[in-house]
Amino acid sequence: MSVSAELRERLNRVLDPELGASIVELGMVGDISVDENGHAVVNVALTTTSCPLRTQIERDVREAALSLDAVNSVELVMGVLDAPARAALMQRARTFAQDRAPQTSIPFQAPVLMIASGKGGVGKSTVTANLAVALAQFGQTVGVLDADIWGFSLSRLLGIQGDVQALGGKMQPLERIIGNGKIKLLSMGLLADEDQALLWRGLIVQKAVAQFIEDADWSGIDYLLIDTPPGTGDIAMTLARLLPQIGQVVVTTPALAAQRVAARAADFARKSNIRVLGVIENMSGLICSCGQRHNLFGAGGGESLAHELGVPLLAEISLQAEINEGGDIGEPVVLHEANNGVFHQLAQRILADVAPPVGALGCTARMLDSIERAVATNA
Ligand SMILES: Nc1ncnc2c1ncn2[C@@H]1O[C@H](COP(=O)(O)OP(=O)(O)OP(=O)(O)O)[C@@H](O)[C@H]1O
Ligand SMILES: [Mg+2]
Repeated sequence: MSVSAELRERLNRVLDPELGASIVELGMVGDISVDENGHAVVNVALTTTSCPLRTQIERDVREAALSLDAVNSVELVMGVLDAPARAALMQRARTFAQDRAPQTSIPFQAPVLMIASGKGGVGKSTVTANLAVALAQFGQTVGVLDADIWGFSLSRLLGIQGDVQALGGKMQPLERIIGNGKIKLLSMGLLADEDQALLWRGLIVQKAVAQFIEDADWSGIDYLLIDTPPGTGDIAMTLARLLPQIGQVVVTTPALAAQRVAARAADFARKSNIRVLGVIENMSGLICSCGQRHNLFGAGGGESLAHELGVPLLAEISLQAEINEGGDIGEPVVLHEANNGVFHQLAQRILADVAPPVGALGCTARMLDSIERAVATNA
């Protein structure tokens, strides 16, 4: 297969965030060429020039192209579909929506963020809990899936306890209302006791994660955050298969050794077709009462990892006793912070740029909607 054909195949994995279908299948990808130096030129046509999802599509195309060894640089030529091409796209999108038997109740427009790291104890679960609360404070309904089957911790961190009920054969996540938003949680911690879960082996763990996605009622969520156990390729593969829209956020400490391990986790994600969206550096120094900063775990790991992966550094979270204490009592620290704390800034960045809520931005869904209505009135 030629490199450009390979590249087109790779681009098949890039989804229009709003329609949940491949941009290749939707007819948005035009000519592709790759020269002998590995320089790729890709033509992409959008439904409208001012499409707010443009940056996201551009970033995903770039990332998918660079995941090919034979591609070293990418030039995107962005255009707009003409009227007939746009009509054809909407037709394909409709057929796609009708044909697709949804495997899960997760709205396909809800961004799914997998929080991962190479090694344990770097603060994935703490970041997941506080980010979920911050997004809820901004009015979002946030699904939280604790995919750490052996080492579950999110029911404790989020202060959510109780029995999971099944309705119509679907597990109902437990809810906690936060401001105008809410959190919906599923965790092994709500279903089994610790000793029981520890006896489970790899395959059963993957099955359990799949059930938390397929056999649970996630309807109505705006975001899904998935906390993962450290360095778990198998779970990443299960998630990538079930959730094509998934993106990974890598958590690392500032130590350079941790950064190398985290880079492997990101590498694995890319091999499983999971986009890497950004890096979070946690435990970035301790600010003592005298105001001085002590870099207990080194410095610069987050920044250099982000640079290496070609993704943004989304947050640098310092070591704070309150973060740890908040986790112990099920009251994430972000609940008691002014609206400009580090987790709020992180949430805002995700809402505005990294993985914006698609429904609010859409460029094609409204068109599809009006077509549907026109078809319904004419039928
Ligand atoms: N910024 C921080 N300041 C203070 N304590 C923190 C911070 N981040 C995490 N911690 C503490 O560090 C410990 C490990 O954090 P956490 O459980 O979130 O890590 P993890 O990456 O999810 O670990 P595992 O890999 O075991 O799941 C916890 O006790 C947590 O309270
Ligand atoms: Mg954890």
